[in-house]
Amino acid sequence: MERVRERRARDLYDRARQAWEAQDTRLVLRLCKEAAKLDPSFTAPYELISKAQEEGQPASSNAFSHPESAAKTTFDRAFEANGANTPPTPEPSFSGAPEKFFAYSEHPIFAEDRLFETFHDSGSIVASFREISASIEEREQLLSLKRTSLAESIDAIVRPLSALFTELAAAYVPRIEGSNAFFESLWQHVCRILVDDLAYFERRGSIEATLQNHQELEMYWALETRGFFTTQVDPSVVANLRASLAPIMASIEEKARQGLDSREHLSVNQIPREITAYLNRYFEQQGINRAVRGTRREAASVSGFALELSVPNAGWWQSGYATLGHSNELCSYFHTDEGRDFYKAILYLSDVERAEFGATGYIPSTFAARRERLPWIVGRAICSIDRSLYPDLNEGDRLSSLRAFRQHFMMLPEYLRENSHWGFDAIDALPIAKTIAEREEKLLGKAGRCIVFDGSRLVHRGGLVKQGQRWALQIIFGVNKQNVAPLYSRLPALFKGGASE
Ligand SMILES: [Fe+2]
Repeated sequence: MERVRERRARDLYDRARQAWEAQDTRLVLRLCKEAAKLDPSFTAPYELISKAQEEGQPASSNAFSHPESAAKTTFDRAFEANGANTPPTPEPSFSGAPEKFFAYSEHPIFAEDRLFETFHDSGSIVASFREISASIEEREQLLSLKRTSLAESIDAIVRPLSALFTELAAAYVPRIEGSNAFFESLWQHVCRILVDDLAYFERRGSIEATLQNHQELEMYWALETRGFFTTQVDPSVVANLRASLAPIMASIEEKARQGLDSREHLSVNQIPREITAYLNRYFEQQGINRAVRGTRREAASVSGFALELSVPNAGWWQSGYATLGHSNELCSYFHTDEGRDFYKAILYLSDVERAEFGATGYIPSTFAARRERLPWIVGRAICSIDRSLYPDLNEGDRLSSLRAFRQHFMMLPEYLRENSHWGFDAIDALPIAKTIAEREEKLLGKAGRCIVFDGSRLVHRGGLVKQGQRWALQIIFGVNKQNVAPLYSRLPALFKGGASE
C-alpha cells in the first residue's frame, strides 16, 4: 500500500515537473499538492509555489524564471540538483510508520495486558481518534499557508480530543489502579506537544532561505528529501574546539574515572557563549545554517550544544527487560526526538571509525514513512509521563520495564500505542528486530565527521560504546518560539479538579 502511494507521489511529481516546463503554474500547484498529500517529502515545492501564487505572481509562470523569485531560488534549483528529467526519489520507506514496526498487542511482554480490547468493544472511538489525527494534519497545511490561526487550531482540536480521552479513561475507573492519573499526565503532554507541533507550522514560511551555491543546495535538498546530510568539519576547527573545550573535557573525564557513567554525568551543555558563537560562525560560513533554514523556513542558527563523552558499559541504553529474560541487543535506543521541528547535528571530536566506538546510527528509510499525527504525538508524550506515578520504579529504569506502566499503556487502543523510543521495546525476540537493525547506517569517520538531521523523523541512536570512547557534540539549531508560550494557558485539564481518583 505504502509503495503504491510513493509511486503515485513520484508520478505526480514527474508530471508537475513537465507542467512546470510547460509554464502551467496552476497545474504544477495542483499536482504538487496531490503529491504532498501522499508523501510529505513533496510538501516543500507545494508550499513554495503556493506562496508565490498567493503573493500575486503570474499564474502562467514567469514566476519561475524570474531571478528574484523565491520559487526560483529553491524549487528551480531543487529540480536542477536532481537531474534534468528525473524527479527526486525518496528512500523507500517501511510499510507503515516506524512506530508500527510491531503491534504492542502482539508483543511478548505487553500482550498479557490487552486492556483496551477487554474494556472497549467498538471501533467507533478509534474512528474518532483517526478523524482528529487527520484534522491535525490538515491544520499543519493551513497554518503553513497562513489560512488559520494557531489559537483557533488548538481550540478546534483540543475540545473534541479532550472529550474522547475522557470517554476512553472512564471505562477503566475504578478497575485499573492509577488510570486517571496516567490519563491526566498523558493528556498534559499530548497538549503540550500538540501546541509545539502546530506552532512550528505557524512559523514555517516566516523566511525564505537564500542558498548561495550548489553545495548548499545539495545539503538543503538532502535534508528536505532524506532528512539528513553528512559533512566533514575542517580539522583546524575541530582542533580549536577541542582546545577551547579542554577544561570541560578534563572534568568529564574525571567523572568517568570515578565510575560516574550516567549520561547526565558525562555530558555538559553549559558551554561558554564564545565557543557556541565560534561554531555558529563556522556553520554559517559553510552554509549549514542556511540549509537548515531552507528546510524549516524559519530563522535558525546554532544556539547551543552539549559536549558528551560515551564510554563502554555505561548501560543507560539497556531496555531493562533483562530481568524478564529478554535481550535487546539489536534495536536498543532506536528513537526519534520529541520536537517535531528538531533539527540537530552530531559532530565527532574523536575518531569513530568503527561501530563499536559508539557511532551514530540511523535508518534512512524511516524519514519518509507516513505518520499518523495523533499516534505520533502520543508516542512522544508517553516518554514524558510523570515517573512519580510509579513509586516502584528504580532510578534509571525505563517505564516500560514496570508492569503497572505497561498496563496503563495498554489502556490505549492499538492505534495510539506508540512510543517514540520504541527501540527499547523492540526486543530481539520480535521477528522484525533483525530486519530493522539490518537497515541501520552508521556514521563512521575521523574527528570532524558530522551529520545534520531531522531528529523527529529520522530514526537514530548513538553513543552505544562497546569499545574505546567517543567524544561528540550534540548541536542544537535554535529558533524563536515566542508564538508558543501564550497558548499553554489555553490547555484544559482532562478531569475537573485534577487527577485524583
Ligand atoms: Fe535523539
